[in-house]
Amino acid sequence: MIPAILVTCSLPAAVLAKLQAVGTVDVHTGEAALSPSDLRARVADKQALVCLLTDAIDRHVLDAAPGLKVVANVAVGFNNIDLAHARSRGVVVTNTPDVLTEAVADFTWALLLAITRRVSEGERLVRSGRWQGWTLDLMLGSGLAGKQLGIVGFGRIGQAVARRAPAFGMRVVHSSRQAPRLSPEHVSFDHLLTTSDVVSLHVPLAPDTVHVIDGRALARMKRTAYLVNTSRGPVVDEAALADALAGRQLAGAALDVYEREPQIHPDLLHLDNVLLAPHLGSATTETRTAMAALAVDNVLAVLAGKPALTPV
Ligand code: GLV
Repeated sequence: MIPAILVTCSLPAAVLAKLQAVGTVDVHTGEAALSPSDLRARVADKQALVCLLTDAIDRHVLDAAPGLKVVANVAVGFNNIDLAHARSRGVVVTNTPDVLTEAVADFTWALLLAITRRVSEGERLVRSGRWQGWTLDLMLGSGLAGKQLGIVGFGRIGQAVARRAPAFGMRVVHSSRQAPRLSPEHVSFDHLLTTSDVVSLHVPLAPDTVHVIDGRALARMKRTAYLVNTSRGPVVDEAALADALAGRQLAGAALDVYEREPQIHPDLLHLDNVLLAPHLGSATTETRTAMAALAVDNVLAVLAGKPALTPV
């Protein structure tokens, strides 16, 4: 039987061609994500699904497709997929680890540097036409050398962020609950919050990581500290963050992800001490191509009766 495959977004032509070589491919090319009902209708007769983190692959979608064998998420995070239900139905779920690690780590540093050195704020000043020229005290930021970077979540991306720290003279601590717990940099979450000059979040979204950074955690941070989030929006309580930033309880925050993307908490939009990026962590041509290729290779493996390359 020739497999039928649904792809919920445009893919690079060479990557899509690999799917077209083995099956009938239905590609959704619209700007907006498929609506839940369109997703259910279009996946119904498919054996494979290539999807994005903006597609909610819930039990209704999975139940709508009795012949589905594999869901290949073009993302490292997979909180958009009901994994337990997929497992109970025997559907393999895959993600795209490793290929995006360096790009996300680079972007984390782009945000870290931009918020501590007020890059977006400075650009807004220049574009507004209000810049009067160089002065000794214009938009002073905060230096990084000799400061402490606290990494919450010390998986692949957290470790890649840490590897870049010595280049900026920063020391690293992390509060991972798993793997390198024995490393000398491991500290309690509370210690990390109270002593770090920059706190960067790299945990996956799961029930126990929702609002890891809440009002209480923010109150533990130094008033001179910065928060960077390139993980998932709901890891931070946005309302509490907006309050803390407005009250100068911390110096600033740089966010790439939000609780209800693409909506931004309205209180954040008016603050100068927050940098708001549109979920660009892995957004390089090389990385997005590699992510799409890995998702497709996962589909090809499962359809060929082989183990997935990167199952979750
Ligand atoms: C992006 O956020 C991803 O999970 O790959």
